[in-house]
Amino acid sequence: METRIYPNDALILAPLSGYTDLPYRRSMCRHGCAFAFTEMIDAGSLVFGNRRTMRFLDRGPEEKWLGAQIVGSEPEILAKAAEIISGYPFDMLDFNLGCPAPKVVKKGEGSALARDLDKALRAFEALKRNYKGLLSAKIRILHESDPEPTLRLAKKLEEAGASAICVHGRIAKQFYSGPVNLGIIGEIRKSLKIQIVANGGINSLEKYREAVNALGGGPVMLASGAMGNPWLFDEIASGGDWLPPDAGELAGEMERHIIETCGYHGDDVGLRISRKFIFDYMRGRGYPSSLKNSVIKIKTRPDFDLFIREIRKGPSEGYFKWLDKNQNAPRRMRGLPV
Ligand SMILES: Cc1cc2nc3c(=O)[nH]c(=O)nc-3n(C[C@H](O)[C@H](O)[C@H](O)COP(=O)(O)O)c2cc1C
Repeated sequence: METRIYPNDALILAPLSGYTDLPYRRSMCRHGCAFAFTEMIDAGSLVFGNRRTMRFLDRGPEEKWLGAQIVGSEPEILAKAAEIISGYPFDMLDFNLGCPAPKVVKKGEGSALARDLDKALRAFEALKRNYKGLLSAKIRILHESDPEPTLRLAKKLEEAGASAICVHGRIAKQFYSGPVNLGIIGEIRKSLKIQIVANGGINSLEKYREAVNALGGGPVMLASGAMGNPWLFDEIASGGDWLPPDAGELAGEMERHIIETCGYHGDDVGLRISRKFIFDYMRGRGYPSSLKNSVIKIKTRPDFDLFIREIRKGPSEGYFKWLDKNQNAPRRMRGLPV
């Protein structure tokens, strides 16, 4: 391997549209996340100077390593966007060639662009010519069992100057769930010189071990497994000697994350976008559905304060009995001291 961007044991926080803003990444940093990406940045909106898009370029002083991710397809627009991003202190610029969202695919971007090899390369080359730092790409496997099409794309990106490629081991039709083909990621690792980051389905130490054992090592990228679960970074880094959060710690992290989100976006927007974060924190942690149903009613800071008090009380009674039988369940909690 010639170029090594990440340490082999790096746990990289994925770009997550609508999620990985600065307060979100700060929450992950508190749990040891040392490599992260911004939300995907639409090249056209950036060139247009859209105010909301410009905020995607914010970086916190505690962020040791931060990459930006860009999505687009028109070489001239991408070239201008790359020039703009070159003026900001990112450690890497990543090109999105995997997004399956209809509004992206409709424009021939993301996963749709990856299917048109020549066009994808022209777009990538425009970024390469105009971006002053390291450039990577994030792709999905292009076929569920045949490695050839994905291998061809990855090799061309390497030849065009990619410093690393992240491969999500699912085809676009699967969106974000279902089986992950580690075999194809492994084939790409064997055939390329640059670092290949593995992504898909890593939501626990057990799944992490499964992936690195199958692939002969990391780095890996964490995405939905860390949503509402920044402790995933602690869990994997611990190698096993780790205590999941109790209800007080869960409530503390939720509160801090959401108050910072309100500080960053203002209370109205902050509380509105935080609802999905709150659902993520509660998922799989045994809180009653009546409490989940009350999330929609959180409209003011006092509403949120009352809600957090309920979180502090801990999950429903049956949860810890269930956990006894499911000790490897992802997103676990530990009981409050009696
Ligand atoms: C809500 C959500 C938003 C996402 N946004 C992006 C994005 O902006 N850019 C990107 O490359 N991938 C995006 N992804 C894909 C993830 O980065 C990751 O590749 C995918 O979730 C698979 O990893 P996982 O199985 O660990 O979740 C998104 C996924 C989710 C669930």
